[in-house]
Amino acid sequence: LVVKTFQSQVVNWQKEHGRHQLPWQQASNPYRVLVSELMLQQTQVSTVIPYFNRWMLSFPTVEALANATNDQVMAHWQGLGYYARARNLHKAAVYISELGAFPESLDDLLKVPGVGRYTAGAIMSFAYDAYGPIVDGNVRRLYARYFAISGVTNSSAVDKQLWALSEQLTPTENCKSFAQGLLDLGATICKPRQPLCEQCPLALTCQALLQNRVDELPTPKPK
Ligand code: ADE
Repeated sequence: LVVKTFQSQVVNWQKEHGRHQLPWQQASNPYRVLVSELMLQQTQVSTVIPYFNRWMLSFPTVEALANATNDQVMAHWQGLGYYARARNLHKAAVYISELGAFPESLDDLLKVPGVGRYTAGAIMSFAYDAYGPIVDGNVRRLYARYFAISGVTNSSAVDKQLWALSEQLTPTENCKSFAQGLLDLGATICKPRQPLCEQCPLALTCQALLQNRVDELPTPKPK
């Protein structure tokens, strides 16, 4: 029951207050989700949008990307940084194009070059509206506060705990709204600094807020 309440609070908030106009939310398919999520991994939304739109004009399908040259691919990534992402995306397209169909399960998605647990969960949630746990920077911060988890959130012990929580809290219905809701809450409400707790749908049961520890969680990385 506690889990169901958490899920419906996130889903209802997303429907009313979340983002619905991002380009990769339009005409979503697994290829568009793969490209957008890899671009968003180390780059903010406003920077990604024009790159994503140009990418889709030049490489509208996974086959188009698989058939592109390395130079064409790198030219479209120019300025986004972390160029290994572009090489991985190209490799992923070649792999999927050779398979003949986009993988449709978490296990099969994890076999795609460059696709880790986060990206696999995002594709399940956003492309298939199916069960797909996600943990990224936004979700780490939100869960660390909601459950008052101390410790550096990407250390392996805490990481394991966060993924276990995510697996338990992720619904099998309204999967897309739930995943988008977590990301949107993390980006707009449960922000790193000066979170807007008075607007948060989870405030009444947020352990960090109840313990007055919002400002000290998540535990900062040691310098
Ligand atoms: N950050 C990572 N993935 C995102 C998404 N699908 N929408 C908005 N922000 C994101």
